[in-house]
Amino acid sequence: LNIGFIGTGNMGRILIEAFIGGNAVRPNQFIITNRTLSKAYDIQKQYKELTVVPTNEEVVKKANIIFICIKPLDIYPVLNQLSSHLTENHCIVSITSPISVEQLESLVPCHVIRVIPSITNRALAGSSLITVGKRCAERYRSLIETLFAQISRPIYIDEPITRIASDLTSCGPAFFSYLLQKFIDAAVQETTITREQATILASEMMIGFGELLQKRLYTLPSLQEKVCVKGGITGAGIEVLEREIGDLFVHVFQKTHEKFYGEKQKVKSQFDDIIR
Ligand SMILES: NC(=O)c1ccc[n+]([C@@H]2O[C@H](COP(=O)([O-])OP(=O)(O)OC[C@H]3O[C@@H](n4cnc5c(N)ncnc54)[C@H](OP(=O)(O)O)[C@@H]3O)[C@@H](O)[C@H]2O)c1
Repeated sequence: LNIGFIGTGNMGRILIEAFIGGNAVRPNQFIITNRTLSKAYDIQKQYKELTVVPTNEEVVKKANIIFICIKPLDIYPVLNQLSSHLTENHCIVSITSPISVEQLESLVPCHVIRVIPSITNRALAGSSLITVGKRCAERYRSLIETLFAQISRPIYIDEPITRIASDLTSCGPAFFSYLLQKFIDAAVQETTITREQATILASEMMIGFGELLQKRLYTLPSLQEKVCVKGGITGAGIEVLEREIGDLFVHVFQKTHEKFYGEKQKVKSQFDDIIR
């Protein structure tokens, strides 16, 4: 079974590396391309047996499962151009949130599934968010789930929670990287600890925190309670957090949704002429 990739930017490359690292796909099963072809050849330098082809049509000719790892507004023109080359034997996997499986199905005659990955999948961790098209055959659904199960925890989601689920899983690593950097900045600003030491300590704490969650030893509130000795130092810190955090994350999610609906609107105007 050949796995095609159209788009080998950030996420395309991360997924290829994760699938190979997680032994989900062998390098010689990949048929990949990218608008700037040198990016695809860069990946081939790492995995010699992988095939690079010069056009999107070549990917469709040589692969059955085709990952579309390009930006939302580039998807309509690419799929429109490929539509006549796609058959019932193909399955398109879209990884972008603003385009629904219904919109994709209206454009191509093949099986369609959407899987929104996360950078955490590169470490064979975190979740992936699956939404299955109405026309998608069970064999493709189960194959894609099996692929993603080797690099993540696949979770099925319905369209209405697409953005918030993606915020939590896919944007989450960027949000928490930012917060962790602020955590480190403050430590360096307020004390004599070096940035290097603070970075090691904060990063190790996050890794340990992840392990605790992984082992399901505590719920989030019970973990907080265990650390907060009554009248102790952590509690004094939590009081500051409680006072100052306000509606921070409410505003973050409002903003991501505003941007999302804006993108959806632009995508809709591309698709409008063909949705019946
Ligand atoms: N980054 C994340 O954490 C993340 C998480 C979940 C989902 N996603 C989704 O993943 C998708 C890609 O995001 P990204 O961060 O990987 O973006 P990116 O780094 O910009 O990669 C997009 C790639 O698509 C290529 N491309 C554009 N038009 C093309 C065409 N017509 N034919 C072939 N290749 C084409 C671009 O080529 P050039 O080199 O010529 O620009 C670029 O390498 C987005 O839809 C995003 O919503 C991303």
